[in-house]
Amino acid sequence: MKDLVATSIKYQQGSLYVLDQHQLPHQEQWLPCDSTDTMISLIKKLQIRGAPLIGIGASLLLAHLAEQGLNPDELKIQAERLRAARPTAVNLMNCIDRMLATLDNQGTAGLSSCAEQLFDEDVELCQRMAALGAELIADGANILTHCNTGSLATAGVGTAIGVIGAAQQQGKQPHVWVDETRPLLQGGRLTTWEMARLNVSHTLICDNMAATLMAQGKVDVVLVGADRIAANGDFANKVGTYSLAVIARHHKVPFYVVAPYTTVDSNCPNGEAIPIEQRSATEVQGVSGSFGEINWAPENTPVYNPAFDVTPADLVTGWILDTGVYDPEKIGAGALKTL
Ligand code: MRU
Repeated sequence: MKDLVATSIKYQQGSLYVLDQHQLPHQEQWLPCDSTDTMISLIKKLQIRGAPLIGIGASLLLAHLAEQGLNPDELKIQAERLRAARPTAVNLMNCIDRMLATLDNQGTAGLSSCAEQLFDEDVELCQRMAALGAELIADGANILTHCNTGSLATAGVGTAIGVIGAAQQQGKQPHVWVDETRPLLQGGRLTTWEMARLNVSHTLICDNMAATLMAQGKVDVVLVGADRIAANGDFANKVGTYSLAVIARHHKVPFYVVAPYTTVDSNCPNGEAIPIEQRSATEVQGVSGSFGEINWAPENTPVYNPAFDVTPADLVTGWILDTGVYDPEKIGAGALKTL
């Protein structure tokens, strides 16, 4: 496989490496990944994360295993193990399906170029969303975003953050309110890191401050990513996205979701059918990262910790996909069923 380099994954001289996102922003540590067990562990612990990127990571690993001589039957078993690593992000399933179809049609020899194509395509899709989305951003806009949707979550410039970066490059000088994104702090740790690298003016807020900012007229638009978009336009994204959509509607703030076609699941009729990952109680009882580990809740405190929530289509102003910006009318007419 050719060398491939992104912000948080790279394939160089026959070896695959992942930037450990659990340790960001304080430590930038690249971890080698040469087995399914390692990749599954990295995905489950969110050391590699973001819907598009986990699909790319799993594909590069499968191609690498094929180059190491794993036979087709073994590769199929490893592919199914990788598919099960996280249940909500459909990009993972889509990438595995494309790798398996290539395996059936071309044998193991086709897997490297398929993984390279998936990587290069993701870079291209990000560019298209960024260009389309940036047209919607006004000069000096105050943008609110949730979780992390940038170069740490994709092979390219990202989805919602890609739009923000493109607006900045066009000289629009946006300001971004960064939701910290409890429980795993993807906003506080990762989006802040990306905003600084992009030189975008930003302010970190607790998740529960968004309503007050909207009431004060300090938010012009909300931009978020997605882990799976159902055929009717409902979509799953990091928990907390749904409440943002509700308060945005109340305050008449436009609310856009930004995602590539690889995040659309045309076979999933609506949000109720999206599987939602449930995660460990310890993530809510405390926090851990490069700064150490702390538990503040009494031991054995019962916890409910769904990683994602579902935002109904009727709260969405527009879907910024790589193929265009879709309004509720187009989505209602079935645009996502034929993507
Ligand atoms: O649990 P995570 O950090 O993988 O969740 C990520 C998100 O919710 C992102 O918004 C989504 O994957 C889109 S990223 C381009």
